Amino acid sequence: MSNTRKRLVMGNWKMHGSLAANATLLDGLVSGAARAGDAELAVCAPFPYLAQARDALAGTQVSWGAQDVSIHAQGAYTGETSAGMLADFGCVWVLCGHSERRALHGETSAQVAAKAASALAAGLTPVVCVGETLADRDADQVECVIGDQLDPVLALGADAVRRLVIAYEPVWAIGTGRTATPEQAQAVHAFIRRALEKRDAGQVRILYGGSVKAGNAASLFAQPDIDGALVGGASLAADEFLNIAAA
Ligand code: PGA
Repeated sequence: MSNTRKRLVMGNWKMHGSLAANATLLDGLVSGAARAGDAELAVCAPFPYLAQARDALAGTQVSWGAQDVSIHAQGAYTGETSAGMLADFGCVWVLCGHSERRALHGETSAQVAAKAASALAAGLTPVVCVGETLADRDADQVECVIGDQLDPVLALGADAVRRLVIAYEPVWAIGTGRTATPEQAQAVHAFIRRALEKRDAGQVRILYGGSVKAGNAASLFAQPDIDGALVGGASLAADEFLNIAAA
């Protein structure tokens, strides 16, 4: 099958930013967006800054989204944010099951799948994050761990799965400066691709994440099953982020 998947380069700002810093960053993204060429650009901002992202990015080629979503549509869930609320602010994307949510907030793969389902129900595109720890890799358990993380999401059915983006982010490569080699990343992306193809969803985009920078992006993007990047630290400076997209 020919690859018609459009490259997607998405920033995950995590809990960084301020109104002033974001204004500079968003301005830089908008004015430099053409450098991304055919690649699609997106940022996932903290909830309080979604309105700022919308105001700066509406009508540009940069889309925006959030970093988490509730499994519930509404109700007595103090501190939670529903997919409908995100849609109200023009979000296109929402990260589901980032490894920091899994590790620090105990999110299970079943909950991650439920988050993806609630995002889809509101018309958002879930970016489902999966990835193994260093201990998993050392124990040769990568495919087993990624398979277990994917299973509840794949169980949502082919129609749902076709509307997802998957992000493969090895936990040991996030924020550590230690990127997976292009070959290590490609091997896992190919494994995920086969799982998607079994659900007739082979065209779903699979992003790589974990210490992606301008200097290593091109070799990652050269791999046949890497369709873009989910970028943390390097998404906080417009120039570096755009250089990744241009790679
Ligand atoms: P990093 O983060 O690029 O800073 O490693 C990636 C991520 O956690 O999405």
